[in-house]
Amino acid sequence: MLAMIALSAAAASAWPAETPSLDELKRSFARPDAVPMPASNPGTPEEIALGAALFSDARLSRDGSHSCVTCHDPARGFTDGASRGKGVAGVTLKRNTPTLWNLAWASSLFWDGRAATLEAQARGPIEHPLEMDRKLADAVVAMKADPETVKSFTAVFGVEGVTEANVLKALAAYERTLVSPRTRFDRWVEGDESALTDDEIKGFKLFTGRAACSKCHSGWRLTDEAYHDIGLPEGPDKGRGEVAGEPRMSNAFKTPTLRELVWTAPYMHDGSLATLEAANDHYFGGVENRPTISHDVPLITPVSTVQRGWLTAFLKTLSSDTPPAPVALPIKVEARVETTIVAATEVTAGARTFSPAAIRVETGATLTIRNADERTHIFKADDPRVTLSSDVQEPGTALALTFPASGTYTVTCLVQPGMRLTVVVE
Ligand code: HEC
Ligand code: HEC
Repeated sequence: MLAMIALSAAAASAWPAETPSLDELKRSFARPDAVPMPASNPGTPEEIALGAALFSDARLSRDGSHSCVTCHDPARGFTDGASRGKGVAGVTLKRNTPTLWNLAWASSLFWDGRAATLEAQARGPIEHPLEMDRKLADAVVAMKADPETVKSFTAVFGVEGVTEANVLKALAAYERTLVSPRTRFDRWVEGDESALTDDEIKGFKLFTGRAACSKCHSGWRLTDEAYHDIGLPEGPDKGRGEVAGEPRMSNAFKTPTLRELVWTAPYMHDGSLATLEAANDHYFGGVENRPTISHDVPLITPVSTVQRGWLTAFLKTLSSDTPPAPVALPIKVEARVETTIVAATEVTAGARTFSPAAIRVETGATLTIRNADERTHIFKADDPRVTLSSDVQEPGTALALTFPASGTYTVTCLVQPGMRLTVVVE
């Protein structure tokens, strides 16, 4: 068992700590100039082309009725336009089909974060009984019987040819190239003052200021890649709470990107809000307060109808004026990082990372995790040997842990699953 005590009381952090200048704010939304591919799946042009073909290959479904494109239609911003779509079973799915824009940068996938990579994600819809309902192994057998398919796989993967892993790799490599095009907002961020109207700029200022939207919708993809309960009417779908086995994360779903929203209605994990205006209005009077509500969502923000109009006008500048198509960015294959394990008894939880991220401690020593971030975290070790689920760690608080047995442990944050701390206990 793991001993845990909260060390200090919450020093309620005012947000933002210091008001950044308009230029600093703009820079925090600047687009990247290359698309990252992991060293384990570098995405050659041939592999990407194969992935694109697989993406519309109905052999991945039980009865040949569905391919990925059926639900992630490029003409609808890689969604299906339904509040909740239907798979081969003809049954309405539990959740809204999310867009696939800009997932090369994503650190967790699905509305509840249950997949860590695009490669791992892709098996989900194929084998899901309500979606495509086909064992990937069976689809591979069918593909192996087709000389053309075998030829394309061999051209990319050599003698390995058609395998389950290679189907998933090719799909993921293709998906990483789905980068949304530059919009008027990007031109403004890059210095073209005339790209936005005065009202849209006022909307941006509200978004990053009093309305506090950018607490969660941050960075060029407009997402913090975290999971929050934003107080939508409570339904049977508990989202992240279910996969994390953590009731305090109930009703939490992934912060979606706000790119190209004009083309991806309806909105929210259940597709319950039909328009951008309705999604926006939710935050002004619609937020249901309950124990699981995110500490980052303001319960009451006095914003007039005119100001709401500015906000929606701003949101629209994140969408293309004409139906968007993916833009080709240069590919940057990420170097394999060797994790250095350092001896440490104190770790800082900052914006999306632990620092250091891999440590060595002695058996029985006390490890302190200090939350130096602007937001709350819930730390958890998923390990059969220990039960560690911290309290909600407010900014400024610290947590003391002792590891009584040697071994390697991984501590993650349930709100921000991209955060991982490796603890080697000697
Ligand atoms: C029947 C409709 C349907 C089909 C077919 C389908 N998807 Fe999806 N997709 C969904 C739904 C619904 C979700 C959200 C599920 C959830 O979060 O639990 C989703 C989620 C995703 C996500 C996660 C996106 C994010 O932002 O986290 C990716 C990636 C994805 N699908 C890729 C694919 C690929 C690749 C295929 C083909 C192998 C595919 N999908 C086939 C409906 C579909
Ligand atoms: C606490 C973090 C947080 C804050 C603050 C926040 N959002 Fe969100 N936003 C989310 C999450 C999480 C969802 C998805 C919720 C769900 O489906 O259950 C979401 C969904 C949305 C959507 C729907 C997008 C889609 O594709 O379905 C829009 C639009 C949106 N937010 C706009 C805003 C605006 C405008 C503000 C400020 C007034 C704001 N958000 C503040 C986290 C946040």
